Amino acid sequence: NSQIDIGVNDTAWRFDCYPERGVVVTRELCEARNCCFIPASSPSSSATRPSGRNGIPWCFYPQDFPSYSLVSINDTSLGQKGTLVREVKTYYPADILTLEVEIRHETDTRLRVRITDPSNSRFEVPISVPTATKKAESPVYTIEFSKQPFGLIVKRSSTGAVLLNTTVAPLFYADQFLQLSTSLQSQFIYGLGEHRSTFLHDVHWNTLTMWARDVPPMTNLYGAHPFYLAMEDGGNAHGFFLLNSNAMDVILQPAPALTWRTIGGILDFYVFLGPDPASVIEQYVEVIGYPAMPIYWALGYHLCRWGYHTSNSTWEVVKSLRNYRIPQDVQWNDIDYMDQFLDFTFDSTKFGTLPDLVKDLHAHDQRYVMILDPGISSVQPDGSYWPYDEGLRRDVFIKDAEGKTLIGKVWPGLTAYPDFSDDVTHEWWHENLQRFHEKVPFDGLWIDMNEPSNFLDGSTNGCPSSSLENPPYTPGILGGLLRAKTVCATAQQKQSIHYNMHSLYGLMEAKASARIVAKRPFVISRSTFPSQGMYSGHWLGDNRSQWKDMYTSIAGILTFNLLGIPLVGADICGFSEEPQEELCVRWTQLGAFYPFTRNHNAIDMKPQDPTAFSPLARTAMKQALLLRYSLYPVLYTLFHHAHVHGHTVARPIMFEFPKDVKTYGIDKQFLWGKSLLVTPVLDPGVDYVDGYFPEGLWYDYYTVRHTPTTSGDSLHSKGEDLRLHAPLDKINLHLREGSITPTQAPNLTLWVSSGQPLHLVSALSDDGSASGDLFWDDGESIDTYENNLYSYIIFNVTQVLTIIYCSKYHLFLVVSLYTGSNILSAFSSDLISTYS
Ligand code: GLC
Repeated sequence: NSQIDIGVNDTAWRFDCYPERGVVVTRELCEARNCCFIPASSPSSSATRPSGRNGIPWCFYPQDFPSYSLVSINDTSLGQKGTLVREVKTYYPADILTLEVEIRHETDTRLRVRITDPSNSRFEVPISVPTATKKAESPVYTIEFSKQPFGLIVKRSSTGAVLLNTTVAPLFYADQFLQLSTSLQSQFIYGLGEHRSTFLHDVHWNTLTMWARDVPPMTNLYGAHPFYLAMEDGGNAHGFFLLNSNAMDVILQPAPALTWRTIGGILDFYVFLGPDPASVIEQYVEVIGYPAMPIYWALGYHLCRWGYHTSNSTWEVVKSLRNYRIPQDVQWNDIDYMDQFLDFTFDSTKFGTLPDLVKDLHAHDQRYVMILDPGISSVQPDGSYWPYDEGLRRDVFIKDAEGKTLIGKVWPGLTAYPDFSDDVTHEWWHENLQRFHEKVPFDGLWIDMNEPSNFLDGSTNGCPSSSLENPPYTPGILGGLLRAKTVCATAQQKQSIHYNMHSLYGLMEAKASARIVAKRPFVISRSTFPSQGMYSGHWLGDNRSQWKDMYTSIAGILTFNLLGIPLVGADICGFSEEPQEELCVRWTQLGAFYPFTRNHNAIDMKPQDPTAFSPLARTAMKQALLLRYSLYPVLYTLFHHAHVHGHTVARPIMFEFPKDVKTYGIDKQFLWGKSLLVTPVLDPGVDYVDGYFPEGLWYDYYTVRHTPTTSGDSLHSKGEDLRLHAPLDKINLHLREGSITPTQAPNLTLWVSSGQPLHLVSALSDDGSASGDLFWDDGESIDTYENNLYSYIIFNVTQVLTIIYCSKYHLFLVVSLYTGSNILSAFSSDLISTYS
């Protein structure tokens, strides 16, 4: 029944029958699984696979490998429900031989499929997703079944493109081994976080493992995001989301095809039909939850480091930035501020002036954020450390398999881990935050080490031996064990065993943390899971001060924008190692266009804030930050669209030009929204940069902004690579034709800037038209959009400028319009008020 001819000779179509790592697969082992054994001679193939990239499998399923059969199928109010039966057991223990498959036509562009065990309930990810109540009326997809062996084929009705075809390999559904493969429409696959890689994934035998883990840069990283976006011919796109939090491998192979291999939960997945990449992400975000609207200062410049040894030395840096008039909205502290690294304490000697520092920051319209790690010290004298004592009393900690508090080790030494899957823990955490807030009135939280990270494997007592700790198949986790540098898989949490809950830890901690004050909460989390954007942003973790790390940060930022967490940034200038001045300048320029902009540095490294460098470098960094501050109105508006519609903020160029295949692999440039193109320098020692300009008219942002009386510097591209001048003090920015960008005179903080006049920069199309918009509110109250406490303004230029103005605020607008060859007009603010 397969739609695709899978020849055993076509190695690209071999689906791995012996994925276990560290095993030399012999003919005997392979044939014991009833699989085909053909050692490949190519050097890229291999019998063992350490991690990450595999070779062509030597042991693979024959086409008649036993799978499930669809034995009955009936219509339901949402679609269909059927029964699957497997006659022959697999080589993994505890096959579930009878399954239920449910197809839900949830919307015209969203299909959901759930394959469950009808006799026993299995773990399901506890995030809330929309409940469809009636079947989609005019779905843009069709679904066909293969009965024997069972398989699903999903097609896009308009083109006939096969988006999913699970007949390509057998379905596995054993208690701890669930596997589903599909053909892919193309090699253009994105998403599947969190990994450090190019934006476009390599499909040449590439295994992406998901299991939250502290330690970059290889294999599984801090977060788990089982979602991919795939391109089809002609610029259409679709998405696929497997709602599963267990440890898993996702295998990409050149057929092209993809295999999901998870070790628990159920198979519950969505297909999103787009039809363009941006709509796919909107449909995905509608399911996982829209990202929160950030508080305005979240979009300012954040400065941090590990190794400010005192509050006074922290303060000195803040003063130094003020002195040089470098914009800064937020100062951070790392674990240095704590008394012996204990959460909810501060070192009264070295950080004795911390409360004064925070007061001073507030007096300058600046904000303070500090780190919290989840591990709570369990070895303080009885009665001396409220967080632990009270935590024990309220029973908030994760238990070991025997029901005792599980003890691991983090910065403060031995620690217990709060179980954020329990509401009682949220209350306890919140009270801790309140008590600390009375001493140090912090404004936001940095939640780190929440994979959760453990310096031990499992616990002080190790972990019991069981099939949860040593499953029949372990995905390609760094360290080879589920418990590697985290707590035991057998640990008990309120909602389930840690085996199921592990990758949800950061999400649940973020949820508990995102209720600190009455205003919009600000939380940045290291570990993330789908729906995280509702509660926090993310930084990409421990990178190095290297050009390569600066480059890969762009892919990370774009990927997290696809994953519904637009508030994302990387440590500017690099965390570990020490950056050369040139790298730090280039990185600050790029970082000025991260949605979340923070410079962070590891302990014992030389200072790398802008004031630590030569006047030339400092000035270039300051200019980049001022540029960001001047673009705050457009950035804030983009976040509004992320919050309300699920749009990306930092946007891959291909999202705006999905028909242009040349954009599909671009991860050295990106857009803010649909029209501001950022082309950073990513190499040392150059004063130029090569960038791709999709077809159309593009304006040099600087020329149009700074020389309003002369003609704008514009270029007409046919879809070309162009070399741009890029001296050390310049990051190239271009405006796409037809756009109106709201900007603002910058200042040292966004709050102070907010009193400055706004300015519209209009880049007219050849026909003289342009449009843009602005979202504006008080920048900090919760739910201003939901409660109608905002202004939303649409600007249109045709022959005259019209402004659709619906506002509670009085905005002062200065408007200039540019065309490719001459300035059309420049309006004064008086004229604008006549229009409004
Ligand atoms: C982790 C974090 C890093 C932080 C350090 C000390 O490595 O990723 O950002 O500085 O811990 O808290």
